[in-house]
Amino acid sequence: MTQKNNIIVTGGAGFLGRHLCRALAKQGYQLKVIDLQENPEFTTIIADVRDQNKMKQLIKDAELVFHLASLIEAGESVKKPFKYIDYNLNGTLAVLEAMRVNKINNFVFSSSAAVYGEPINTPIKEDDRTIPINPYGMTKLAMEGLLRSYVEAHDFTGIALRYFNLYGPEEHHQPETHAIPRFIEQIYQDKELTVWGDGQHLRDYVYIDDIVAAHLQAIKLAQQQPHQYHYLNLSTEKPASVLEIAALIERTINKKAKIKHFPPRPGDPRVLIADASKAKKILDWQAQVDLATGMKNTVEYFVNFWQQT
Ligand SMILES: NC(=O)c1ccc[n+]([C@@H]2O[C@H](COP(=O)([O-])OP(=O)(O)OC[C@H]3O[C@@H](n4cnc5c(N)ncnc54)[C@H](O)[C@@H]3O)[C@@H](O)[C@H]2O)c1
Repeated sequence: MTQKNNIIVTGGAGFLGRHLCRALAKQGYQLKVIDLQENPEFTTIIADVRDQNKMKQLIKDAELVFHLASLIEAGESVKKPFKYIDYNLNGTLAVLEAMRVNKINNFVFSSSAAVYGEPINTPIKEDDRTIPINPYGMTKLAMEGLLRSYVEAHDFTGIALRYFNLYGPEEHHQPETHAIPRFIEQIYQDKELTVWGDGQHLRDYVYIDDIVAAHLQAIKLAQQQPHQYHYLNLSTEKPASVLEIAALIERTINKKAKIKHFPPRPGDPRVLIADASKAKKILDWQAQVDLATGMKNTVEYFVNFWQQT
């Protein structure tokens, strides 16, 4: 990429997509945003990434595709495996094929910690075993496999970014199953705070700005190391338990949580922490935002949001 060229973002109206599009536009990139819903800040092409013909018409005249579009709920995927396989795999394949036909070969996509399943080593390294424990994780692993085959067969440059738990302002999933936005709402609105199991589960929460920064670095990596395949953990390496998260939100909002414990969810690993040294070395990326700062920004966003709605 010689200049600030065109970039396509699928799933550009979602939580990460909105932050990423804003950052790319700020850097001077021309964007084409494709999603099933609208990103109010950018012209959005409303299209389904599974639509092969449409993708061939739309995915062209760009240097790189960020493929974020996906169904994202691990729990739902257990109940609706066909749906997850259809959306995530057919969607990814249609985007890759459109890229091949229209000669775009830089592909960066949202993989996930879910590819690992129940880890046997902590912190998890990229070459540790990958045995997903739900169809969502399996689709992410299969998306990586598909991408790798395009790197080998068609000289693509492929970067799979395995995010651990993202959090930050503007996270509005429907339904919201992620702990941080749920806990903020439950504490702020004096509702019961639902904890599955004893709350000692350790997770690695990465602030949204850090994840966006990794995507900007991925553009450079694609330029510097073309026709290669990279798969990288994005994490802070600083775990926090679910109860620690609840306590931090209590202090940030200055309100007590009404914690209610429910039975542990099957297939919820006790510890999910990554080694991020490969991303540091290859992507020149390291998480910068500490949990207290990220949480303060996130709580401020939600409190403002509720006060205005
Ligand atoms: N949020 C997390 O903690 C997390 C962790 C690991 C990986 N990821 C991955 O990161 C990506 C972005 O996550 P997010 O939190 O922003 O999710 P999100 O649900 O907010 O955004 C995903 C977007 O993709 C769109 N989309 C879904 N299917 C589509 C289709 N067939 N055609 C077009 N658009 C479609 C949705 O409308 C949505 O706007 C996803 O691929 C997700 O699997 C997220």
